[in-house]
Amino acid sequence: MDLFDLTGDVAVVTGAQGKLGPIWVEALLDAGASVLALDRPGIAVGAEFKRLAARFGPQRLTSASADACRRAELETALEQCRQTIGPPTILVNNAGIDAPPAADGKGYRLEEIPFETNLRILEVNAAGLFLVTQVFAGAMARAGRGTVINIGSLYASVSPDARLYDHIPSDPPFLKPPAYGASKAAVVNLTKYLSAHLAPYGVRVNTLSPGGVLGGQDPEFKRKFCERVPLGRMATAEDLRGPLLFLASRASAYVTGINLMVDGGFTVW
Ligand SMILES: NC(=O)c1ccc[n+]([C@@H]2O[C@H](COP(=O)([O-])OP(=O)(O)OC[C@H]3O[C@@H](n4cnc5c(N)ncnc54)[C@H](O)[C@@H]3O)[C@@H](O)[C@H]2O)c1
Repeated sequence: MDLFDLTGDVAVVTGAQGKLGPIWVEALLDAGASVLALDRPGIAVGAEFKRLAARFGPQRLTSASADACRRAELETALEQCRQTIGPPTILVNNAGIDAPPAADGKGYRLEEIPFETNLRILEVNAAGLFLVTQVFAGAMARAGRGTVINIGSLYASVSPDARLYDHIPSDPPFLKPPAYGASKAAVVNLTKYLSAHLAPYGVRVNTLSPGGVLGGQDPEFKRKFCERVPLGRMATAEDLRGPLLFLASRASAYVTGINLMVDGGFTVW
């Protein structure tokens, strides 16, 4: 189990106050790392963060604000990381924009999807992820050691199946934004690019692509989704911890540039 031990590591997790953020943060803390939980300015720390802060204390867990698309804010967060818990050795690029059904109460026909909607998703999920990596993995490269885990998605590999959503009242029918999967496919390719360029500096870069994670989805969606999954269920927090720790630790010392699918087999058929 020493292979998975992260004692002495310093991890930065973006999008840390969202649904999956606290799962990554807790897994890293449990494995021994100290963690900087980053999120956008204006996003308050959530109940999960407070629970973990009470359990691990300020020497192990701290929070900061930075927009993934603003370099100056990221540089400030890097400095804050250095001064509070130390220089970063692990980066989890988890921040992202998805668009679940009725997120904005509006539906669009394919030909009506606003240019700006697509652009913003690509900006945050792909260009922002690259910018965050420039800042934090740049620091790791200068120190000669680090690992980056980019959170992808099953939709990096396949198109969303609109039938999973066709029971949801919406006129026009709900469409997952095309830019979401496109941005995640971009993450898979950026991972390969970054892994090649950062390998000489001792920094590994991999994608972890979750399938659908069990949350507040409606029962009909869950039923239809699970029918599509060879393992017959949605992912739980427990399903995500092991793959993250594998990529974050020495257990994956000879692994770089891959896309680790954690989707119960969703994408095999
Ligand atoms: N939940 C799932 O089922 C699932 C499945 C596959 C992949 N993913 C991916 O996992 C990641 C986390 O998903 P989630 O479900 O927790 O989403 P979420 O919406 O709950 O959390 C996303 C977080 O990213 C932050 N964020 C958004 N824009 C930002 C910006 N410009 N700068 C900094 N932070 C920003 C948000 O404030 C939020 O805290 C995303 O990349 C998502 O695409 C999620």
